[in-house]
Amino acid sequence: MTVDVLLVGGGGREHALAWKIAQSPRLGKLYIAPGNGGTRLVGENISIGVMEFEKIAQFVEEKKIGLTICSMDNPLVSGIVDFFQARGLRIWGPTKVAAQIEGSKAFAKQLMREASIPTADFAVFTNHDEALRYVHEKGVPVVVKASGLALGKGVSICRTLSEAESALKEIMLDRVFKDSGTEVVIEEYLDGEELSIHALSDGKTHVLFPVSQDHKTIGEGDTGKNTGGIGTIVPVPWVSADTLKDLDARVVKPTLEALAARGASFAGILYPGLKMSSQGPKVLEFNARFGDPEAQVYMRLLKTDILDLFEACVDGTLQRQTIEWETGFTINIVLCSGGYPDEYKKGFPITGIEEAEKLPGVVVFHAGTTFDGTLKTSGGRVLGVSAVGATLKEALDRAYEAVEKINFEGKYFRRDIGAKALAA
Ligand SMILES: Nc1ncnc2c1ncn2[C@@H]1O[C@H](COP(=O)(O)OP(=O)(O)O)[C@@H](O)[C@H]1O
Ligand SMILES: [Mg+2]
Repeated sequence: MTVDVLLVGGGGREHALAWKIAQSPRLGKLYIAPGNGGTRLVGENISIGVMEFEKIAQFVEEKKIGLTICSMDNPLVSGIVDFFQARGLRIWGPTKVAAQIEGSKAFAKQLMREASIPTADFAVFTNHDEALRYVHEKGVPVVVKASGLALGKGVSICRTLSEAESALKEIMLDRVFKDSGTEVVIEEYLDGEELSIHALSDGKTHVLFPVSQDHKTIGEGDTGKNTGGIGTIVPVPWVSADTLKDLDARVVKPTLEALAARGASFAGILYPGLKMSSQGPKVLEFNARFGDPEAQVYMRLLKTDILDLFEACVDGTLQRQTIEWETGFTINIVLCSGGYPDEYKKGFPITGIEEAEKLPGVVVFHAGTTFDGTLKTSGGRVLGVSAVGATLKEALDRAYEAVEKINFEGKYFRRDIGAKALAA
């Protein structure tokens, strides 16, 4: 029996998910709302926005679509899953209460404190003067975070008191993140390597993906402003199977249990971002969805039919499902618009993707692209160039050869993705 699927979103993550879903022998038709210049190659783009729940549900009902998939923060935190479930429609993703683990950093920190899950020491404030006093008391470096969703821009790593003061002013007084900044989390700065964990859960059983590592800052050597994520590797060679087991026991399992105990049982992907600090692993935050670009490397390595996994989550039968991975490594290099993560121009024609994809092991996922007869840039993160290899070095060499084939005005990428892991 085939199933028609609608995927909500239009970033690099969604192209990667759509690319993998399209390989399922059980797929009928695939729709992506709204999709991008790449998803149109593997399914049909529908011009409905990700927050237009009523329109999406109507389309699903009209076309008798059997499964909707949502792996985006804003619709999940706003309750797209509850909206669909109330209409008797099958949807993959966590409910609104469960997605709070991402939607409210204050909620996530409190849950971690109560469940003894290792995380940076912190305090939560709604009053600006109190927050300011706390920062002065604690000193720098310190990390200031808007509690709500902020398009990846709500976190400031403050190395001076004046940086911390301006972060608090922007969030709490100037309200640049609107209600997302009503609560502020101020936490201890942690040193160490960052890791991404992904756990697929049906609310009762969970299974861990291999550990991946994203690169967050725009500049080489982990310098400059934070981005949404600009290059990823999987698996991380220095993380052992025992370490992953330990992270499951200390982080993933207790978090899923704590959510369930609060009546917020979690189905979907739970993605903790971690720091492997000198005081042991610490959770930076939780996401209630696939990472982007992490999804792009996972989809290249996943052997199992992803529709089987999604449906097992929705049906609560994950315990009976096996999950298999290809051997080897995958790397993703994000090609950005010059200027990103600050202001950038868009609308530039893109060339060379076909040439890049002729290289062994290379697949190019679209993020900020649009097609109007010509393929053009339409976002900060434009393309994710991925390559698989038997070794990390082989994957890296292939991906870096591929990025040179692709051109658009202002193209920027980091030349050191995976370099630290390779040297470790
Ligand atoms: N306590 C911390 N110490 C050091 N770096 C941090 C800390 N918290 C966050 N960061 C850095 O800031 C990035 C973004 O923070 P995160 O909590 O993941 O928020 P979001 O992804 O919602 O912007 C992290 O990926 C990490 O690089
Ligand atoms: Mg993050």
